[in-house]
Amino acid sequence: LTEGIGQIMVQSFVQNFVHDFALRGFLLILLGALLISKPAGAQQPALNLLPMPSSVHAGAGSLRVDSRFSVALTGYTEPRLERGVERFLRQLMGQTAIPLNLKPAKSGQATLLIRTDHASKEIQEVGEDESYSLEVTPAGETLIAPNPLGTLHGLQTFLQLVDISTDGFAVPAVNIQDRPRFPWRGLMIDSARHFIPLEVIRRNLDGMEALKMDVFHWHLSDNQGFRVESKRFPKLQELGSDGFYYTQDDIRDVIAYARDRGIRVVPEFDMPGHSTSWFVGYPELASAPGPYEIERRWGVFDPAMDPTKESTYQFLDEFIGEMAKLFPDQFFHVGGDEVNGKQWDASKEIQEFMRAHGIQNNQALQAYFNKRLQPIVEKHGKSMIGWDEILDPALPKDITIQSWRGQASLAAAAKQGYRGILSNGYYLDLGWPASRHYAVDPMSGDAANLSPEEQKRILGGESCMWAEYVDAENIDSRIWPRNASIAERLWSSAEVRDTASMYARLDVVSTRLEWRGLTHKTSYWRMLHRIAGAATPEEFAALRTLTEQLEPVKDYTREQTAPVEPTSLTPMNRVVDAVPLESAAGRRFGELVDKFIAASCLDADAGARLRTQFAAWSDNDARLAPLAKRSLLVREAAERSRDLSALGTMGLAALDAISKRQPPPGSWKTRQLATIEQLKKQKAQLLLIPVPAVQKLVEAATGGTCMGAK
Ligand code: ACM
Repeated sequence: LTEGIGQIMVQSFVQNFVHDFALRGFLLILLGALLISKPAGAQQPALNLLPMPSSVHAGAGSLRVDSRFSVALTGYTEPRLERGVERFLRQLMGQTAIPLNLKPAKSGQATLLIRTDHASKEIQEVGEDESYSLEVTPAGETLIAPNPLGTLHGLQTFLQLVDISTDGFAVPAVNIQDRPRFPWRGLMIDSARHFIPLEVIRRNLDGMEALKMDVFHWHLSDNQGFRVESKRFPKLQELGSDGFYYTQDDIRDVIAYARDRGIRVVPEFDMPGHSTSWFVGYPELASAPGPYEIERRWGVFDPAMDPTKESTYQFLDEFIGEMAKLFPDQFFHVGGDEVNGKQWDASKEIQEFMRAHGIQNNQALQAYFNKRLQPIVEKHGKSMIGWDEILDPALPKDITIQSWRGQASLAAAAKQGYRGILSNGYYLDLGWPASRHYAVDPMSGDAANLSPEEQKRILGGESCMWAEYVDAENIDSRIWPRNASIAERLWSSAEVRDTASMYARLDVVSTRLEWRGLTHKTSYWRMLHRIAGAATPEEFAALRTLTEQLEPVKDYTREQTAPVEPTSLTPMNRVVDAVPLESAAGRRFGELVDKFIAASCLDADAGARLRTQFAAWSDNDARLAPLAKRSLLVREAAERSRDLSALGTMGLAALDAISKRQPPPGSWKTRQLATIEQLKKQKAQLLLIPVPAVQKLVEAATGGTCMGAK
């Protein structure tokens, strides 16, 4: 089992310590340690750990995991740790299907001995020590952490190390020292545009725990819905949610569930814009008279709170007071994004107020609003956080900026003395490949030139799952597995950036997340069966051959390309809703083409695999056609099916030319490239992912090293 893991991996501690104020005194000792270690950011990892720990030293042999596996908690303990160990054992059972005794063992007899030194904060804080060390030998395992946060992380690392072996299940001998690079590693879920049921929230918290993410940012109100029960202002949920909201007990349950997993919950109530749903019950808050209805469309809308009325602040004072008690976290998110100002422009009273107070424009009016809002948030014991639009030098340095419009605002905030987190580059709804998110570093761009003091204000980042095109069924597949690449960016050293290594580990993590109850793989399967209806096995296989090469359109093009304007009532049952945002099959096909061309098209095995793939594509449309006649939802993708077959035929022709080392006439290339330009366009909001790779083959078939090689 240890074969292939003999390589020693050491990561630099330096980046991690930049954010650890308490331990900076040990820097000298660590510098000493660095002299005898080698940075290994670019090396292929031998273990499927994600996020990659700060340091990993492989040992000899392995620890067997069988039905005698047991855990003992020593040192400081608390009910959360006991629940954590039981959850760990259940997860281990899920991974191995070996029945385990869930009762804790005596310390002398345990396979896994845990020692936690002391408690963490009752209400989890930003920047608490999350470090742990894990030592696995053939005789047993020791997990040591200063407080429960590190213990919980260490248990997750152990679970990633467990794998099938030649004689059962085992964990390779290893010594791991680990701590996060950034203290704020978040995932935002928008429960407003589509209501996201509690069990979906919970399983995503499980996924966050597995990836060591520690902040759940909950976007709870927007134009399309107000999702929390307010006892003080019950018309918020009664009239603003279609009955889809979380009760206060639900919220408390989620917060407890998250805390058990070392995750803070930061609520967001977006204001003064993105707030139509508030006005259905309380139109007096708005800048124009009602009545208002819940918004069903997507986009930026005119309704905004009236920042000039004292009654607005009285309402917010009471509302925030109620929510501040419900949500224990230190941070309270007030949104602040995308106020278009049209209601303000149109109101005589607001224009008069602005003149009387010397407020020059709408941006200044929003700054005035935030200046009134911030002391209210503070009065209720919270620290205000908002999207980068709230950045204004008039606000106290206690506020935190969440940068979504560009990375520059993060550095600008840090320079002015504000803390910030990065979300620009981490928008999961834009459909980027994991590699593109992975390349985004909170400390790059303008942030790279900040002083160390300023850099400390950059707390980390958050991925964002906006919910225009997600519901309970497909949301997991929009978050995972790509979110794991962002989790690694925020936990691991900046030097850990080898994309091939990340993808290799991501594939493993993706499979394992399903054992945690996430449904990103299985929901695709379920949705495809709905789309196919009563298809024959052959037809279903043909549908899969097509859809595994498709992705939805990217960025913000989904609305523009929609056949009819989508709303919150539009069913999400189409191929575009089912296919993953990053096609693993498409990525692997691209890698195979690159490998073939890099070997001057002399790699016979790669060539044979490409030929098999092209032949299957070439025949696929005929196999799918009968089903496309019967199913409305398959028919929508019929053009893409013809395109895939055309691509297969083109690929076969390119391979023929390459194997004969005989370039086709110039007119062939011109025709193929013209077709390729057509195939690159979206149809039915679907992109055909292998097109650029086939273009490379067409070019290889008409010149270059492949045609010269013998
Ligand atoms: C945002 O995406 N409007 C924060």
